[in-house]
Amino acid sequence: MDYRQLGRSGLQVSAIGLGTNNFGRQLDAKATEIVINHALDMGINMIDTSNSYSGGRSEEFIGRALKGKRHEAIIATKVSSRVGEGPNMGGNSRQHILAEVENSLRRLGTDYIDLYQIHWWDPNTPIEETLKVLNDLITQGKVRYIGCSNLKAWQLCESVWAGRASGLASFASVQPSYSMMDREVESELVPFCKSYGVGILPYYPLANGFLTGKYVRGQGAPEGTRLADNDRGMFTDENFDMLERLEAFCAERDHTVLELAFAWLLANPNVSSVIAGATKAEQVVGNAKAGGWSLTEEEYDEVTAMLP
Ligand SMILES: NC(=O)c1ccc[n+]([C@@H]2O[C@H](COP(=O)([O-])OP(=O)(O)OC[C@H]3O[C@@H](n4cnc5c(N)ncnc54)[C@H](OP(=O)(O)O)[C@@H]3O)[C@@H](O)[C@H]2O)c1
Repeated sequence: MDYRQLGRSGLQVSAIGLGTNNFGRQLDAKATEIVINHALDMGINMIDTSNSYSGGRSEEFIGRALKGKRHEAIIATKVSSRVGEGPNMGGNSRQHILAEVENSLRRLGTDYIDLYQIHWWDPNTPIEETLKVLNDLITQGKVRYIGCSNLKAWQLCESVWAGRASGLASFASVQPSYSMMDREVESELVPFCKSYGVGILPYYPLANGFLTGKYVRGQGAPEGTRLADNDRGMFTDENFDMLERLEAFCAERDHTVLELAFAWLLANPNVSSVIAGATKAEQVVGNAKAGGWSLTEEEYDEVTAMLP
């Protein structure tokens, strides 16, 4: 496993990470433990969750699975999403963050969070209030690094400058939807991250499994897979045309599209960790192994020219 800096921080995170929005939903506590154990065995340390995944059960099951080996993992969790009724049960206010960090720590069974991320921009809370409370949590030792998710480039820029103006800790990373199938962030956010040294943690890196090789034109989705009930608009002729071109490109080089999905994202040195979800041990093992392909510049350009 390769390890990369999380943005400009000193934290080393595995180039392949583990996403956990299936834990507590598709996966029960036992299945979660199996996936996590395999992830750690493969050198994956980056585990991404949220206080909102499966009503908190993702954090709870991760906490149970990491009992006795907490130090092996970098736990990245999030706050912002609505977690109950009432005006202060979501967002990025001091009130909500101080309440929710305690709930996350309790569910995770730990006394510190490695990377605490705001899940969403909160238009109702001044970013200075959010950064101040996050900075306080770092000072208290409850949180080690801070990050964000789903921010637009201008929002991240405002956050960085607000933090600088007040001498507060800055976001080490940003988590956007980013894959060969979804490149919207390349126009503004990716260049911003390059200039400012913010680490990128792409989510949906496998396009919900479309880039794993298990979906074949005209064959219907394999039962029990994520795109089986709802293809999320992926099963179009245009997408299968592209997938088949990518498959041919990979086959010529003795690689797979799954490997390419990671290699293409990791070709950007600002990508710190690619957090792919996994519902089975063999998937997380496959994903960890898939990280070994380094694209040449020519290969990267050739692939990129095929993408939407
Ligand atoms: N910040 C945010 O707002 C946000 C939003 C969404 C997700 N996330 C985070 O990003 C993580 C990654 O996103 P994601 O898990 O939703 O999507 P993803 O990584 O694009 O797809 C993961 C799904 O693909 C399938 N898969 C994974 N590895 C495979 C393999 N080797 N072979 C075959 N199939 C494989 C599995 O689904 P099946 O087995 O069911 O087919 C798995 O659940 C999440 O887990 C979560 O931690 C963050």
